[in-house]
Amino acid sequence: MTQDELKTLVGQAALQHVPEGEIIGVGTGSTVNKFIEALATIKDSIRGAVSSSVASTERLQALGIEVFDANSVDSLGVYVDGADEIDDRGYMVKGGGAALTREKIVAALAKRFVCIVDESKCVSQLGRFPLPVEVIPMAASRISHQFDAMGAHAVLREVDGQPLVTDNGQHILDVHGLQIQDPLAFEQQVNQWPGVVTVGVFALQRAHVALIGTASGVKTKTY
Ligand code: 5RP
Repeated sequence: MTQDELKTLVGQAALQHVPEGEIIGVGTGSTVNKFIEALATIKDSIRGAVSSSVASTERLQALGIEVFDANSVDSLGVYVDGADEIDDRGYMVKGGGAALTREKIVAALAKRFVCIVDESKCVSQLGRFPLPVEVIPMAASRISHQFDAMGAHAVLREVDGQPLVTDNGQHILDVHGLQIQDPLAFEQQVNQWPGVVTVGVFALQRAHVALIGTASGVKTKTY
């Protein structure tokens, strides 16, 4: 099975975790795009969605799914999103699609985080994928030096030779060479650095369930 087929498989499997009659949280990325396509087939059984990016909002609306402002809901039954890495405790690295800040906000609103990935995303320790960190532009250089001091190397994410600008008007550093042994402590530490908007470690908002696409079908893990 191709990676694309595995993404379709887990996108469809996530429908089983969608509570009827509710507003649900929807993440961002190529795997979530498969979920959004699947969600469109049951759109009359949900009230709508809170979205984690402009890109997902446009897809949801194009398929006739109402998108609500995060401020208009008190809580969400479920949040469905992909990940760049997930370990065997449900801790994740996210932000490959630069949507990490809104993803963390929507995840925090949800009672359950259902993570949909193909098996290439499963790791024993976070850090293989360069860690995305959303930063206030004027703090980028100082934050890069703080990662240097940890023995890592931060690279400003660019598009067409210009710094990528997130949906929130900020920049992204991709940090190479980290070995994140204690994701909870790491997330809390980096969160405190001035100018960090969001660190792409999702330990405080870890997954409760992972649907993992494998050649032999979807494996479900609960944490
Ligand atoms: C976007 C994310 C995505 O969930 C992550 O990058 C995985 O994306 P994909 O499903 O395309 O592999 O965190 O900010």
